[in-house]
Amino acid sequence: MERLSLTRPLILAPMAGGVGTPALVAAVSRAGALGSLGAAYLSPAQIAKDVAEVRRLTHRPFAVNLFAPQPLPEVTPHQIGRAAAELAPFHVHLKLPPPSLPDAVQQDFGAQFGAVLEARPSVFSFAFGRLERGYLEALRERNILCIGTATSVPEARLLEEDGVDAVVVQGGAAGGHRGGWLQDELAPTLELVRRAAQVVRLPLIAAGGLMTRGDVQDVLDAGAELAQCGTAFLRATEAGTPGAYREALAGATGTTLTRNFSGRLARGLPNAITAGLHAPLPYPYQNALTRPLRAAAATTGRADCLSLWAGEGFRQSRDGPAAGILEELWP
Ligand SMILES: Cc1cc2nc3c(=O)[nH]c(=O)nc-3n(C[C@H](O)[C@H](O)[C@H](O)COP(=O)(O)O)c2cc1C
Repeated sequence: MERLSLTRPLILAPMAGGVGTPALVAAVSRAGALGSLGAAYLSPAQIAKDVAEVRRLTHRPFAVNLFAPQPLPEVTPHQIGRAAAELAPFHVHLKLPPPSLPDAVQQDFGAQFGAVLEARPSVFSFAFGRLERGYLEALRERNILCIGTATSVPEARLLEEDGVDAVVVQGGAAGGHRGGWLQDELAPTLELVRRAAQVVRLPLIAAGGLMTRGDVQDVLDAGAELAQCGTAFLRATEAGTPGAYREALAGATGTTLTRNFSGRLARGLPNAITAGLHAPLPYPYQNALTRPLRAAAATTGRADCLSLWAGEGFRQSRDGPAAGILEELWP
């Protein structure tokens, strides 16, 4: 990781879905930390465009992040009908056509990965699983550092065995999707870092609930080389966080874990969707099914139907330029 010449031991968490704009990524990299572009929902052409925009704004290193490919789970027409029926009243409310699954429920990982190789960021990071050897070799050939994501010590060890360059250990307080695939301990971040540091030799990147300079210092003292922060930047001026989401963050009282937006467990603020659905499809089907609703909710300012991803530390998130937020996290 030394080759990145960071002047702050911080990574901007990749935030797919519109929050992690190229402007936010570039602002963080310009300030001596590592910006990450959350590209999991982007087409190859959009990845190329967003990377070009980051490069227009900074010459500093940055990361691009994707979700590791997984075999599609089986879903029956009955399951799809039930999940769509649950969502239907929300569609009526937002004057959308009835919910239905699109033909393509997710981006083609191979094509996205090709776009990343072509773009040659300094770092590639991924979550939700392991990567086949061929992908890791392609990164190494191009001198792109590779970071995997673990929510438990066994996952961190598997990623080390696979040959990644560093591992994000994501504690239970983290906002957004749980990044693991095997067993999720939902452990306190500090405890997970301490345990992982005893058995994993690779550089560790701590994530989950790191909101202050003290939080960052604690995970470094526990054995992490870097701290990855997402929620701290949700209200940054450069973030793509819609206004209704920002207002919800300012007024919320707590977070919840839900599968209702995507089919994968994720932490965010509770709303009508987290409370009102009971039969979500597995990922990526539910994600595809709820996409039109989430898009309409973002444009019409309806926080009740938006995925309001946020970590347990959200009360300490602040408005203002990313450079100021970084200055507070690590002066
Ligand atoms: C809005 C949002 C979107 C996220 N999207 C991604 C993503 O695309 N890829 C990923 O690896 N992690 C994603 N995460 C999780 C972060 O990488 C990280 O684990 C988390 O933000 C750390 O906890 P914190 O939010 O308490 O700082 C996301 C988190 C948030 C809040």
